Amino acid sequence: MPMALVEPFADVDRLVAALTEVIVNESISNVMLRGRFILALPGGTTPQPLYAHLAKPEQRVRVPWDKVHVFFTDERCVPPDDERSNYRLVKEMLLDHVPVPAEQVHRMRGEDEPKAAAAAYEKQLRSVIGPLKGKEFGVLDLALLGLGKDGHIASLFAGKKSLHDLERWVMSEYIDEARGTRLTMSPWLLNNARSTIVMVWGAEKAGALMAVLDGPEVPNALPAQRIAYGANYVRWMIDMPAGRLLGKPSMR
Ligand code: 6PG
Repeated sequence: MPMALVEPFADVDRLVAALTEVIVNESISNVMLRGRFILALPGGTTPQPLYAHLAKPEQRVRVPWDKVHVFFTDERCVPPDDERSNYRLVKEMLLDHVPVPAEQVHRMRGEDEPKAAAAAYEKQLRSVIGPLKGKEFGVLDLALLGLGKDGHIASLFAGKKSLHDLERWVMSEYIDEARGTRLTMSPWLLNNARSTIVMVWGAEKAGALMAVLDGPEVPNALPAQRIAYGANYVRWMIDMPAGRLLGKPSMR
């Protein structure tokens, strides 16, 4: 059986506070061990309370932002100032409020031709991490993700080729449900992060969370199972309403 660590919290505030501690600790330990912290962030509504919390003066001093490289797990193919842009969201809520050097913020270029933008992003990641020794593991230090109500994760959607790509790190795909093209990190890249955390809150995610963690293994229909069952190390940090349909409280 695959294993996932599920950590339930009473409410979103407690979840955000605990996740902040994880981010502070992982950023410090990665900077001490490797001199930098490579963080991949998602868009959507889920991470917004976290971004707002990390941006607070008392929290932003706790992360060594000058050594952080910010990447994005996925992006809509729109210009960076578009209101649908993940870059715009994360910039406005977090990056504009913390001392991360501009050259260490690596956005996906949603305004470019999608295939070229995906290839360029992989190149950018490779140039930041430098030569890979032996096994290509741990490109990302921490990948943070949200869960879609339909079981998608990052911009990995049901039935898409990107779910099975073992070659590329970043891909583009037209997504009918989203009525547009998306750029996304691959399951391989997300699963091989040193640490992968999926943040899920709210009663409307309960059905998807139960299907992903307790239902039959059908990753082609529930892309989040590619992460639930494939990640090097994955924690599901959830609130009680999201977890209300789960059979078991923690390890599975
Ligand atoms: C995005 C995300 C995406 C998100 C899920 C959940 O850009 O939208 O990266 O994968 O995490 O769609 O969306 P919500 O957080 O809005 O529910």
